[in-house]
Amino acid sequence: MTSTHEQWDIVSGVGITALAVASGRAGESRRADRLIEDPYAQDLVAAAASPRLDALTGASAEIQAAMSGYLGVRTRFFDEYFLRAAAGGVEQAVILASGLDTRAFRLGWSDGLRVFEIDQPKVLEFKDTALGELGATPAADRTAVPVDLRDDWAGALREAGFDPARPTAWLAEGLLPYLPAEAEAQLLATVHRLSAPGSRLSVEHVSGPRNRILSDEILRIGHEWGIDLADLLDTAERPDPGDELTGLGWSVRREPTREIAAGYGRPLTGFGSSFAEIGQLLTAFR
Ligand SMILES: C[S@@+](CC[C@H](N)C(=O)[O-])C[C@H]1O[C@@H](n2cnc3c(N)ncnc32)[C@H](O)[C@@H]1O
Repeated sequence: MTSTHEQWDIVSGVGITALAVASGRAGESRRADRLIEDPYAQDLVAAAASPRLDALTGASAEIQAAMSGYLGVRTRFFDEYFLRAAAGGVEQAVILASGLDTRAFRLGWSDGLRVFEIDQPKVLEFKDTALGELGATPAADRTAVPVDLRDDWAGALREAGFDPARPTAWLAEGLLPYLPAEAEAQLLATVHRLSAPGSRLSVEHVSGPRNRILSDEILRIGHEWGIDLADLLDTAERPDPGDELTGLGWSVRREPTREIAAGYGRPLTGFGSSFAEIGQLLTAFR
C-alpha cells in the first residue's frame, strides 16, 4: 500500500523516538536494580550509527537514570501484560508501533502464538536487518507488518495472516501521544472491530490536557537529542481512551504509573517522575 503520509526511518521524524526508548532499555538492562533485561537494545542503538545518537548515548547520568528508570517500569508492566495474556489463552499479539520493541524475541511466549508488529516500513526494515545481523531468533511466530497507522492498517494486518476470530492481546506503548485525534479514534474502533471475545488491550496513556507532556524539561532534553517533541507530539484534545473503550463494552482497569513504579520498588527521578505523575497504564478486556 502506498501511504500519502510522511515517511521516516529510525533516525528521523518519530522514528528516532524508537531509538531513544531503546537506548533507555539498554540503560535499564545495565542497572544493578534492573526491572527488565533487553539483550538487543544496546546493539540496536549501535546499529543505527547516526551522529544524532552521540547526544542520546552521551546524555548526562541524571537524564539517563530518569529515562531508564521510567522505561524499566513501563517495559516490565507490558512484559507482564503479554505473559499473562499468553498464559490466559490469547493466540495472537499485535504490537502497534513496535519500533525497536524486542518482546517477540525475548519473552517466553506459548507455543504457536503469533506476534504481529506494526510500524512504518523503514523502521521495521532497519530492525529486521539489525536483528538478523545479530543472529536474533524470534521466540514466537513473528510477522512484521509495515504500514502507517493512519492508513488501512487493518487490511495489511489481515493480509499478513491475523485472524480476527482468535483472541488477541494488543499493545499501544509510546504511541498515542504521536497520533492525530482521528487516527487514535480509528485505532480504538479498529482494535474493537478486530477483537474476538477474550481479547485485551493495554495502553500507555497521559491523563488530562494533552500538552501536559510537553514540560520545559522534556522539551529541553528533546532538543539536546535533536528531537523536536513539540513538533512530533499531537496535542489536539480527544476523548479519553479508557472512556472510549468502556463505551464500547470493554472492562477497563486504570493504573497510575507512579503506583506501578512504587509496586516495583522503583524510585523515579527527573522527567521520569513527571511522566509517572501524569501517566496511566490502561488494560482493557473484551
Ligand atoms: C516512542 S516510539 C515507541 C516504540 C515502541 N512501542 C517502544 O515502546 O519501544 C514511537 C513509535 O511509533 C511509531 N509510529 C508513530 N506514528 C506512527 C504511525 N502513524 N504509523 C506507524 N508507526 C508510527 C514510530 O515509528 C515509532 O517506532
